[in-house]
Amino acid sequence: MKGIVLAAGKGTRLYPMTKPVSKPLLPVYDKPLIYYPIAVLMQAGISEIMVIVPPGETDTFKALLGDGSQFGVDMHYAEQPMARGIADALLIGREFVGDDSVCLVLGDNIFYAPTLGDTLKKAAQNEVGATVFGYWVEDPRPFGVVEFDKDGKAISIEEKPRYPKSNYIVPGLYFYDNQVMEIAGNLKPSARGELEITDVNLEYLRRQQLQVVPLEKDFTWLDAGTADSLLTAGQTIKHIQDSTGRYVGCLEELGYSEGWITAEQVHATGTELGMTLYGKYIQCL
Ligand code: G1P
Repeated sequence: MKGIVLAAGKGTRLYPMTKPVSKPLLPVYDKPLIYYPIAVLMQAGISEIMVIVPPGETDTFKALLGDGSQFGVDMHYAEQPMARGIADALLIGREFVGDDSVCLVLGDNIFYAPTLGDTLKKAAQNEVGATVFGYWVEDPRPFGVVEFDKDGKAISIEEKPRYPKSNYIVPGLYFYDNQVMEIAGNLKPSARGELEITDVNLEYLRRQQLQVVPLEKDFTWLDAGTADSLLTAGQTIKHIQDSTGRYVGCLEELGYSEGWITAEQVHATGTELGMTLYGKYIQCL
């Protein structure tokens, strides 16, 4: 399975912060935001990753993530020339994905749960169809909203409904088999001029091949798209790390635990970053 991180948004809701710096490079407590969605792909067991960045920004992202070898992954880059919607990421990644299955994650979505790795690896193992998640929120209106029947089966998904049929939203993490390439290729832009990921999910629903996994209460999902949610995300990550003694989104740790890098490589990065708590944490792995 291949992984794609869509990190090409302009981040206009965070102006002026995002005028000179892309949103995924902003800090969420002690790491750049993009570390968290990359960590999600790595925890799903995915080591071939394409990061889709805004036009002209490849070198900036490369300065942070390089070729991925320091985390044990193979990092590719592509630019999204204009904001054409989330599903456009699948078309941009078409050659990279080839005949494989793909997991798409949004560059401003953060997931945490003690059992996250197991949940993700299970989703990555589904060979046919699509797997997405349902997460309870107080106000679902700004998101894709999924409705379940009394047996817990998904029966509808609506993008940013004025009158939501449930409080369960579909967060920005999608596992697809290779049918997604044909489905994305046939999409028509929505009223807001975008190729909607909700339309992709609806097509899988129509084909009776969409699995919506409800995320249990111990899951934290954060979308760091506004100043408030960015601050909440940073505070939440700090709280989790302080209370568990474990880092969230530590890519070196994840690469090491997947067996993709050696202890020597981890310690070399730890020494390089030894002036920070992050570096000291890595040194102790
Ligand atoms: C997008 C999707 C929406 C999803 C959300 C998660 O919304 O369109 O279905 O629930 O991401 O962050 P957008 O960020 O484009 O408003």
